[in-house]
Amino acid sequence: MDAVAPEISTNVALTDMNTLRVSASAEYFCRLSSVDLVQPVLQFARARGLTVTALGGGSNLVLAGDIKGLVVVLDIKGIDVLASENERLDVRFGAGECWHTMVEHCLDQGWYGLENLSLIPGNMGAAPIQNIGAYGVELSDLFVSLDAIEIATGQERVFNREDCEFGYRDSVFKQRLQNQYLITAVTLRLSRQPQININYPALKDALGGLQASPQQISDAVCQIRQQKLPDPAVTANVGSFFTNPKVSEEQALSLISLHPNMPWHVQPDGRYKIPAAWLIEKCGFKGQRYGNVSVHQHQALVLVNHGGTGLEVLVLADKIVQAVADEFGIDLVIEPRVYGRE
Ligand code: EPU
Repeated sequence: MDAVAPEISTNVALTDMNTLRVSASAEYFCRLSSVDLVQPVLQFARARGLTVTALGGGSNLVLAGDIKGLVVVLDIKGIDVLASENERLDVRFGAGECWHTMVEHCLDQGWYGLENLSLIPGNMGAAPIQNIGAYGVELSDLFVSLDAIEIATGQERVFNREDCEFGYRDSVFKQRLQNQYLITAVTLRLSRQPQININYPALKDALGGLQASPQQISDAVCQIRQQKLPDPAVTANVGSFFTNPKVSEEQALSLISLHPNMPWHVQPDGRYKIPAAWLIEKCGFKGQRYGNVSVHQHQALVLVNHGGTGLEVLVLADKIVQAVADEFGIDLVIEPRVYGRE
């Protein structure tokens, strides 16, 4: 156990490890580059009664304050083809692999399925937690299993798709099992045959309704994202700050009669999904700045930090939630996870 202690630092700044670039620190900090280090590090935390918080790429979290206990960054790399049959192949990715680098790598190899998910920030290990999705594809569509280690016991466990209880931007790791497991690897089922999905309106428009290759789809998705969504390397943000709410048919019909221009999509469960960005824009927030934080001028779903604290970002989020509730009677739910709030 003591052999790994020197790799654990104290009072480490996390500013460069969260894409909102909030200044906050970790009481204890460790970068885990190998799965072999997980058990000794968990023992270190257990022996001292430290809470363990896992970070991936830091692109979907708000640090509301300093983090007590041990923060671990999962930096485990590796790409292994586990099984390959006809055009199908199952590939295991280390949790620390960068999501978009993997999308590009798979395209280069002729392994298809990930192209609609191009340019999503973050790491592989974080992808299942919120079941990342964009342009008509969700991680759960490709998911086979993930390897995880229980923080409290050090027990290894494989989660299959059912175990993960995936939903829209949701999984068991945001609910019942929140902060209980470290995800060390994710296995996805890809295809050697192109899997073309261009039903999402913005993507179909960008491709002019024509057939496209996986590389062309990836290029189009990158282009749409670059036009609408600020690059976290340049502008501090965490992508969508709110999920798109689902409302009952009754509520939707009454809103549509009041706001005939409101976009909506009927869901398989009969409820109506309304774009949170439209609701926020209608409340007048798009492009507005409030002190050190603002609502992005091209995508009202994105909050931008201009040197403020995590709490300032959350105060703006609360103001938006309140305004949308007052105007439309809809309760928005924030998408990123919040850490360090006492
Ligand atoms: N809209 C507005 N104002 C805006 C932006 C959008 O009114 O400022 C309306 C438009 O009517 C538009 C509709 O919202 O047609 C949908 O917009 P868009 O296609 O940009 O998608 P979104 O619902 O705003 C979701 C995801 C994004 C994902 C895109 C594309 C959520 C919470 N967000 O956004 O995911 O990239 O679809 O599939 O589901 C993320 O999770 O960080 C993220 C960026």
